[in-house]
Amino acid sequence: MSIPVDVVVMAAGKGTRMKSQLPKVLHRLGGRALAQHVIDTAARLSARSVVVITGHGAERVEAGLQAPAGGTQLKYVRQAPQLGTGHAVQQAAPVLPDDGVTLVLSGDVPLTRPETLQALLDLCAGERMALLTLDMPDPTGYGRIVRSGDGSVQAIVEHKDASEAQRAITEVYSGIMAVPTRLLKGWLARLDNQNAQGEYYLTDVVKFAVGDGLSVLAHRIADAVQVAGVNSPLQLAELERAHQRRVAEALMEQGVRLADPARLDVRGELLCGQDVEIDVNCVFDGQVALGDGVRIGANCVIASAVIEAGAVIHPFTHIDGEKLGVSVGPGSLIGPFARLRPGAQLGAEVHIGNFVEVKNSTLAAGAKANHLAYLGDATVGERVNYGAGSITANYDGANKHRTVIEADVHVGSNCVLVAPVTLGAGGTVGGGSTITKDTPPGSLAVARGKQVTLPNWQRPAKKKP
Ligand code: UD1
Ligand code: CA
Repeated sequence: MSIPVDVVVMAAGKGTRMKSQLPKVLHRLGGRALAQHVIDTAARLSARSVVVITGHGAERVEAGLQAPAGGTQLKYVRQAPQLGTGHAVQQAAPVLPDDGVTLVLSGDVPLTRPETLQALLDLCAGERMALLTLDMPDPTGYGRIVRSGDGSVQAIVEHKDASEAQRAITEVYSGIMAVPTRLLKGWLARLDNQNAQGEYYLTDVVKFAVGDGLSVLAHRIADAVQVAGVNSPLQLAELERAHQRRVAEALMEQGVRLADPARLDVRGELLCGQDVEIDVNCVFDGQVALGDGVRIGANCVIASAVIEAGAVIHPFTHIDGEKLGVSVGPGSLIGPFARLRPGAQLGAEVHIGNFVEVKNSTLAAGAKANHLAYLGDATVGERVNYGAGSITANYDGANKHRTVIEADVHVGSNCVLVAPVTLGAGGTVGGGSTITKDTPPGSLAVARGKQVTLPNWQRPAKKKP
């Protein structure tokens, strides 16, 4: 049986260099708060609990994060004032059960891979101290890994406390360690702040472990992105690019064809079938699913939507399902410049053309609205043809009403359908009509002023002075 893992996430720091009102760990990367990435990673390790240490903006941070899926319990502990990383972990000690391993992470380090942390936990194996380390060409500011002649780790010395010789060491502590909890608690109780920064350093536990004869092992990685923290908007943007690159690579690995992996942003979860093609500058938000053979043109923004097999979304289309979702049926053609809003449910082979807005409406198979139109709160039957410039007047200033357009109706151009109203199957509405009453199946409805034509009409001319 494996030893339970309790994760401590340090998130009490101020994040001054973000120059933002928002606490640093709530800034978003790939659509999720930085600390949420860390919590979700802990859940992927099947951790027993995640203890987030909050301080600056504690209430906002606690309200802004969510318990992960699965059995991992989320807890908060407050640290005020912030007297250092050792002091931070001291605050968590009372909620860490003695029988487990504590894995220390930071709320501002979002891209650590679960496999890397699992390797660290395996190295710890419930009885050793395991440190995640890496070599840095410029190690300025980091804690240095000091080893003895035989290569064993002796201590972590913070940059400000390090001698010239120690500062020449390029192996640094990443800020991530795994330690048997019972032992950690004993060492935390022995920390002091007699150092260059007057802080309680968590890193001092290493020298206590060595003194107690415990083996301290380093898991040295080469990929700096996995331990990179966010301190500034520039670093946030750099890690966003690194994250998006990973997402793009995973999609391509599955067979998705991206015109340019550097010009794709996924801020949620994008599920793709086979032979999906995505052109440049597309943004996906929330849960989006693309069926087999779906093609997405350049510059589309798509959120909370299901696009079924073979549908084509032409360039500059905006789809946002928000809470209700949007569904686009198989073989449909959408855009360019179309807008699908929450509750748009399109059946098979529906055509939605340029400058057409659809909201909270169902369109049955083969329905078409190709130009400059609005369909809101409408039920549209099979093969309906909805003319250019026509709109549903669905709002009377207080309430929304439905428009029902039965199968095979042709609505001419520039019509206003004043809801609630039903157009019977197979009927025709003449262009420019304002329809306020239901029409029977098979009828022609025309509701506009009759045309008057005066022959040989002389336009008024300006008088000469
Ligand atoms: C720490 C390590 C250093 C390591 C570096 C890697 C110590 C003493 N030093 O340095 O060896 O190379 O991380 O990035 O641990 N925090 C709190 N409460 C506090 C202080 C910090 O919650 O009182 C949080 C911060 O918000 C941050 C994390 O702990 O998320 C690390 O703090 P930071 O000040 O960045 O660590 P360093 O001193 O730079
Ligand atoms: Ca510091």
